[in-house]
Amino acid sequence: MRELRDALAAFLHCKRDELAIVRNATEANNVVGNGLDFQAGDEVLLTDQEHPGGRCCWEQRAARHGLKLNTVALPKPPASAAQIVELFERALTPRTKIIVFSHITTVTGVILPAKQICTMARAKGVLTHVDGAHAIGQIPLDLHDMGCDFYGTSPHKWVMAPKGTGTLYVREELLERLWVNIATTNWRNFDLKAYRFSTFGTSNLSVMVGLKAALDFFQQIGAERIYARQHQLATLVRDRISMHPQVKVVNASADAKNHEFFGALVSFEPVPAVPAGATTGPLKKIADECAARNIRIAGGAERIRIATNIFTLPTELNAFFDAVEAGLRG
Ligand SMILES: Cc1ncc(COP(=O)(O)O)c(C=O)c1O
Repeated sequence: MRELRDALAAFLHCKRDELAIVRNATEANNVVGNGLDFQAGDEVLLTDQEHPGGRCCWEQRAARHGLKLNTVALPKPPASAAQIVELFERALTPRTKIIVFSHITTVTGVILPAKQICTMARAKGVLTHVDGAHAIGQIPLDLHDMGCDFYGTSPHKWVMAPKGTGTLYVREELLERLWVNIATTNWRNFDLKAYRFSTFGTSNLSVMVGLKAALDFFQQIGAERIYARQHQLATLVRDRISMHPQVKVVNASADAKNHEFFGALVSFEPVPAVPAGATTGPLKKIADECAARNIRIAGGAERIRIATNIFTLPTELNAFFDAVEAGLRG
């Protein structure tokens, strides 16, 4: 475990003592959501694109302890990092204790300017918890440079590690402020540092061996090379989809030279937008064309999100583009 934590700490640019190995991002998010001593009336600022695995622990705290949840509506697409930071800053109140946001959202795949948000929050005395479930392995990460207080990940996604593996970063100064969610021996042994949060009874060590193997494989290719390939493929999607006025890419700026808001996920929605739960429209036609070509997609009429991993083949993307073009012609 020490070897694994050392390798992960080097990968994420933090100290081993700040890193707990948990089972997934949902667990990491819950350790933070349930582990901080907030009072009724204290406020939490989230975005409107949080995954249930990052949002529901706060909903439970609201129902159970009277916390108030506020939400920033993320622009689709964002115009600039400054615009996003300003939205967060304007939504702060004197009772805001923590900002909780996804580094890369599950809904659209937009990359949020994590360092700028954390810097702004720190200057205001507000904590930050970043849900990096989709970020680890999709974009290179440097947690110390980011300046977040807490950061959770699910390496079973883009690092292709076994399911049941996750990480939680806790900034060193905050280690003793966080209560454990699952208490057993050593629950108050602060000498364990972040390892206190990995102490939850007998668990599955074999997947940890798998996580180390996945990380070794990833490092053998290199985070920067992997990002370059994944983003190159995503850029093909962004550029091809942007050619069609019936749809709009919602996580990439209209400026084709701007690459800051998308990594390896590209999402698009119909123009004009369809109501939530709609079952018709241009994206439904694209979904039908995909089905006819045996391309399986989740979702449909409201939004389509494409993920380009290193194993995605350009020929697969071309098959999808054919479906898009046939759907939009029809
Ligand atoms: C941003 C975000 N947070 C949390 C999760 C939940 O991940 P897990 O099931 O690995 O805990 C996801 C899954 O897609 C996600 O995208």
